[in-house]
Amino acid sequence: MAILKIAKMGHPILLEKAKKVDDPTSPKIKSLVNDMLDTLKDLGGSGVGLAAPQVHVSLQVVIFEIPNEEESKTNSVRLITLINPKIQSLTKNTETDWEGCLSVPGLRGKVTRPNKIKYSGLDLNGNKIETIAEGFHARVVQHECDHLFGILYPQRMKNLESLQFVSEARHWS
Ligand code: NI
Repeated sequence: MAILKIAKMGHPILLEKAKKVDDPTSPKIKSLVNDMLDTLKDLGGSGVGLAAPQVHVSLQVVIFEIPNEEESKTNSVRLITLINPKIQSLTKNTETDWEGCLSVPGLRGKVTRPNKIKYSGLDLNGNKIETIAEGFHARVVQHECDHLFGILYPQRMKNLESLQFVSEARHWS
């Protein structure tokens, strides 16, 4: 197990396009994903997802947590590992909501994104994943996959007026 250092906005790796993973089943990728899971867990709920470039590895690997729909009464989450992802927007409808990012600590901002998508990719066994997602789930996937294209959420903001420190917002909203 290893807890990895998070790259913060300003580190050039966050602006790079991540490379495709040749073999999702390789021990190297398994170990990377394990370390990313440890890192996310160590941050204790301050993040719901992590992309490999955020731990200084420019590969198309993301992990994220989504609420477990099968056990909606509990607070349990489902952790997804997605390799070489592709996203297709299924609607012209958008939703605007708050986002934060471990690479942009302390801040949050409102981002507008399509609210229904189809995403696909591979898991650690090389099996194909294909999922239709809406709302929060769709937002998380789009945010994490943006990291693979060198995009941080402030670059997606239509209006920087809502970019704020969470510590400050707490007093005023
Ligand atoms: Ni992020």
